[in-house]
Amino acid sequence: MTKTLDTGVRNARNVDRYVFSSGAIDGLGDLLTFRRQSDQDRVIFLIDEFFQHNPTALGELPIKPTDTVRYIDTASEPTTDGIDELVQQLLIEGCRPCAVIGIGGGITLDTAKATSNLMANGGNAADYQGWDLVPGPGIYKIGIPTLSGTGAEATRTCVMTNRATGIKLGMNSDYTVFDQLILDPDLTTTVPREQYFFSGMDAWIHCIEALNGEYRNPIGDAFSWQAINLCRDVFAGGEMMSDENRASLMVASYLGGCAIATSYVGVVHPFSAGLSVVLGLHHCVANCIAMMAMASFYPQAFDDFTSFVEANQIDLPRGVCAGLADKDFEALYQATVVHEKPLTNALGENFRDILTPARVREVFESM
Ligand SMILES: [Fe+2]
Repeated sequence: MTKTLDTGVRNARNVDRYVFSSGAIDGLGDLLTFRRQSDQDRVIFLIDEFFQHNPTALGELPIKPTDTVRYIDTASEPTTDGIDELVQQLLIEGCRPCAVIGIGGGITLDTAKATSNLMANGGNAADYQGWDLVPGPGIYKIGIPTLSGTGAEATRTCVMTNRATGIKLGMNSDYTVFDQLILDPDLTTTVPREQYFFSGMDAWIHCIEALNGEYRNPIGDAFSWQAINLCRDVFAGGEMMSDENRASLMVASYLGGCAIATSYVGVVHPFSAGLSVVLGLHHCVANCIAMMAMASFYPQAFDDFTSFVEANQIDLPRGVCAGLADKDFEALYQATVVHEKPLTNALGENFRDILTPARVREVFESM
């Protein structure tokens, strides 16, 4: 038969199940009842440290005496060493769990995904940094986002920085995808406004990068367009954190994650990764800082982004690369151009002809 359409979509994997509703977290106990074969079965709860000091924000979690609760430090993003250390402790402390639950933003969700993979498959986190290197399924895992935008709840990766190699790369694998999501917009009421904006913009940036790339496909495009429409409504100038907008942004985050699971990001994320690796800036704020230097790469998106910043009166850090030494700019250059797939998606195979060391430095200096 003649093939008329090759989309490049190859047997894509999505999250198996999700529930989306105000108060949905109250159903976690029922979901776990199906997983616990006996009273001795252990569940590992990995929870954003914010909730250690604000426990009532999550309601009463179905934690049993045999379970393990770890609060995840979100001051810095996951490293392969940090993940290995956490998994070692969890293995020493008890038997193989029947479920791993991640409750938090992208850092916590990614930590839960990596923990699930490593507890089931052994090895070290760095062994699985790359594409399709995880040998088998992880422990059953549930993701409960409390911050919207990164799409970590939907993607087949969990981003970690490998300090030894300087590479920020996840375990890109079908086995990394959550088995179950609980999408409960009530959980984002306590997010500080700027953090809400920065992480929400991550979803929007994923989609504008995907739609401006070479490796597009109709399914990724559809996810992207809908996520962009939702983000535009949320950040157009009304109360971005109203009940309705928090629910919309939670959906946009999920759809944005689905979008990049079937396509690629572009120029913003590599520059953002440079800021994260060299200056230690968090992913979402780094994206927004990078976005301010994207007028020549994404003119329309740049205009939209500045209008979102103004409409929501967001104070963006400026001049973050002022006064850096030559060796810092060299490190920024290397940490940016290492992201070949997104840069090829955005600028073509000869992206290095455009992103020369001088040009990259100029972009960082303009942030
Ligand atoms: Fe992102």
